[in-house]
Amino acid sequence: MREDIASLRNEYSKEELDEQSIEVNPFNQFDKWFTEAVASEILEPNAMVVSTVSKKGVPSQRTVLLKDADKEGYTFYTNYDSKKGQELEHNANISLLFPWYELERQVIITGKAQKVLKEKSVKYFHSRPRESQLGAWASNQSSEITDRSVLEEKLKMLEERFLNKEIPLPENWGGYLVIPETFEFWQGRKSRLHDRIFYQDEMEGTWKISRLSP
Ligand SMILES: Cc1cc2nc3c(=O)[nH]c(=O)nc-3n(C[C@H](O)[C@H](O)[C@H](O)COP(=O)(O)O)c2cc1C
Repeated sequence: MREDIASLRNEYSKEELDEQSIEVNPFNQFDKWFTEAVASEILEPNAMVVSTVSKKGVPSQRTVLLKDADKEGYTFYTNYDSKKGQELEHNANISLLFPWYELERQVIITGKAQKVLKEKSVKYFHSRPRESQLGAWASNQSSEITDRSVLEEKLKMLEERFLNKEIPLPENWGGYLVIPETFEFWQGRKSRLHDRIFYQDEMEGTWKISRLSP
């Protein structure tokens, strides 16, 4: 074990988050921070860590890209037969984590995932570069393959199949809308006395706001 790992640490002092300045509605607070994350030009501001749980209760995580945010929730796109897709089929509980380290911020959202309407997936699929569309066809995401050539041969075959044609949305590919039930906004502060503001959905569009101990 490297001895210097234990000494890796930073003091956080960039910003504060308090009950007076936060938005009453967490969607607005998210918009505010997301806008700031994009403006700050950090790498992949829309990357989020998505957690799902297996039938046996074993958690798994992976990074995906946020592709839409509206008053209903947060959308990402993936393969519905992937590990995450299979887990969501049995258990719609999901958590999203935005690790905005350069801003000394983290946002965690928990809620339920549901598939978006097919028309929305079709529209987004066709907005992607052609190579990405072919990639979605070529990959049975999360399944085992013998080696890389399997993918390359499949891609070649698909390029011929769809030559000069519009590439249709694969049946097993599309979006998930995450409908939030809780939000936590974390802002790093001095002496590890960080700000953590927690929102809990209390139905009918009202959110209970509380401060959590760091
Ligand atoms: C920065 C980044 C962005 C990614 N974006 C996506 C995405 O939007 N959708 C997706 O299915 N996988 C995305 N991936 C790949 C996933 O992390 C993951 O490997 C894949 O979805 C399979 O996950 P699963 O086997 O747990 O279902 C991304 C990976 C990284 C590092």
